[in-house]
Amino acid sequence: MLLSDLLSIKYPIIQGSMAGISRAPLVSAVSEAGGLGVLTTVGLTAETLRSQLAAVRAATTKPFGVNLMLQQTNIADLIPVLRGEPVPVVFTGAGNPASFMPDLLAVGTKVIPVIPNVKIAVKMMNLGATAVVAEGMESGGHIGTETTLSLVPQVVAAIPIPVIAAGGIATSAGINAAFALGACGVQAGTAFLVAEETPISPKYKQLVIDATDTSTVVTGQGANRVRSLKTPLTTELLTTTDETTFTQLATGSLDRAIAGDVDHGSFMAGQIAGAINRILPAGEIITNLWRGVTKPV
Ligand SMILES: Cc1cc2nc3c(=O)[nH]c(=O)nc-3n(C[C@H](O)[C@H](O)[C@H](O)COP(=O)(O)O)c2cc1C
Repeated sequence: MLLSDLLSIKYPIIQGSMAGISRAPLVSAVSEAGGLGVLTTVGLTAETLRSQLAAVRAATTKPFGVNLMLQQTNIADLIPVLRGEPVPVVFTGAGNPASFMPDLLAVGTKVIPVIPNVKIAVKMMNLGATAVVAEGMESGGHIGTETTLSLVPQVVAAIPIPVIAAGGIATSAGINAAFALGACGVQAGTAFLVAEETPISPKYKQLVIDATDTSTVVTGQGANRVRSLKTPLTTELLTTTDETTFTQLATGSLDRAIAGDVDHGSFMAGQIAGAINRILPAGEIITNLWRGVTKPV
């Protein structure tokens, strides 16, 4: 089944959630253009989540998603909002959604965990996940250890539920490749960093546009492995051996990037940043991505 049929959208393209970045204007623009916009809940309270949901619904009647980063400490506050006014899809990451997945499924919300390996994909399927996003380490932000090219076909072979490919996809060739690997659609994050509707500093967008194929680096370990653009901060993080200093430097660094602090920000972006050349409305990013795609039969 194609992702567009599963989610009742025009194009099988998801704008992956971006922590503190993918707010209502970007989400509604992507969904209105026929993709699936995904709202970040990082930094939101139950009350501000309600107002973000209202803002998306005021701007589009099309399906959209909400992301729960399970490292967030206030998930228990947000779940009642999502049960009270159900959204079409919830994406989860960085933790185990077992405690609330049945509640969301029961109100008609599809639950799609983002997974880094086959073992977790199988676990999520057994919990009742509707589909999974198999995310390779080419991605921007927090990453696992496997590449999209290797991960996606192995997850497709291991589970019978739909698999969405993520990591390194910002071209129509990338979407064709994802279909060839057996994915039912794609999730892209880095491609949408440069959308007109994305509320980050122009300096952040320019760094993405200036990036080449070798402009990103991975810092941190385990659950803290993060891919971002090479900046003075990443150089410092890579040479820091003291854990406390590392945490001090890393804490709040995405917010500083969003604000345009080139020296102290973590400008999270994926390896495909080198293929991104200009700022465009989100709707045009979607139509450009889809142009040249051969829809699988
Ligand atoms: C700046 C940034 C922030 C991100 N934040 C989140 C997040 O909060 N939750 C999440 O599940 N994924 C997050 N991601 C991952 C994206 O949703 C998406 O899966 C990933 O960007 C796909 O790979 P790509 O960057 O190569 O397109 C983030 C990615 C970026 C670039």
